[in-house]
Amino acid sequence: MVSNQQSTAVAYANLAFIKYWGKADATLNLPLNNSISMNLSAAKTTTTVTFDATLKQDIVTIDGQPSQSNFSQRVSQQLDRVRLLAKQPQLYALVDTHNAFPMGAGFASSASGMAALSLAATSALTLQLTKVELSALARRGSGSACRSIPAGFVEWLAGDNDTNSHAIQLAPPNHWDIADVAVVVSQAEKKVSSTLGHKLVEQSHFLQTRLAHLPNRLDRLRQALLDQDFETFGQETEAEAITLHALAMTSPHQTGTAWQSGIYYWTPDTLELLLAVQSWRADGLPVYFTLDAGPTVHLLCPADKVTAITEAVTMIARQQPNRHWDMLVSYPAIGAHLID
Ligand code: PMV
Repeated sequence: MVSNQQSTAVAYANLAFIKYWGKADATLNLPLNNSISMNLSAAKTTTTVTFDATLKQDIVTIDGQPSQSNFSQRVSQQLDRVRLLAKQPQLYALVDTHNAFPMGAGFASSASGMAALSLAATSALTLQLTKVELSALARRGSGSACRSIPAGFVEWLAGDNDTNSHAIQLAPPNHWDIADVAVVVSQAEKKVSSTLGHKLVEQSHFLQTRLAHLPNRLDRLRQALLDQDFETFGQETEAEAITLHALAMTSPHQTGTAWQSGIYYWTPDTLELLLAVQSWRADGLPVYFTLDAGPTVHLLCPADKVTAITEAVTMIARQQPNRHWDMLVSYPAIGAHLID
């Protein structure tokens, strides 16, 4: 009987420039389209997995606290997939996860968490997975987690089955000196999860239009990234983010018994910041925004403009008393890896 097999892995959450929004297969987490992202250096998750033959079930702790949350159920389901691969169906694990960034900051902790978990768990059971296989496995835990496996700038190839839907590296982290200043304008938990958002988008009349335009956008953005053409890259990224939110705002649904015409992930502060970005750009500052399914605004800029951007954000934040916006600055980060 195997006992006390342990590994620790680190992975970073990623920020999508071309978004994953809508699933072709909800069980396998196959996306409707390719997406392109960058790993975020400030969004680090460290996970230790210890398989222990004396355990009767998995035990998950987040930052040292026992967790019974939806995330810990998803951890167990992901461990089930690893147990199946290792042909060890009854071998349970202690999973200890630490996020180096605040929960609710608008970073996809499920991406870094599932990527680190998949690497630590497969390594603890000495499974020899290629990067592609590991990325596909991480995808099952959380779609965007597959993009946190390769380093730097990454494309998730949508594929059409469990093995060919995975991420690949487009360029290493040192390819381009750009930064993401994430401005956390609200800590409130979002009302509609991204899991539900992926489903509700099927109701949006604009989904087919977006999908028809995406191959061109993917080509333009990928090329701009490879050419370090910040202007084209920024324009495509920002237009794509607005498209995602236009789809969300045209995804009708119910909250309880009440009908809602769409999902609003923005708060008034979000919109204030988006308008500010437009005026900063008109004043000559090279900055573009993107947003995931939440109110956090990600400001993308050349790395040497980070101070100018953080100062501009601070000025606006101070215009309202009692307003507190947190900022987290990230640079392109490495991929998932094991540590001692
Ligand atoms: O991986 P999920 O199911 O949390 O979906 C992520 C969805 C977005 O963050 C909005 C877009 C993306 O590509 O990361």
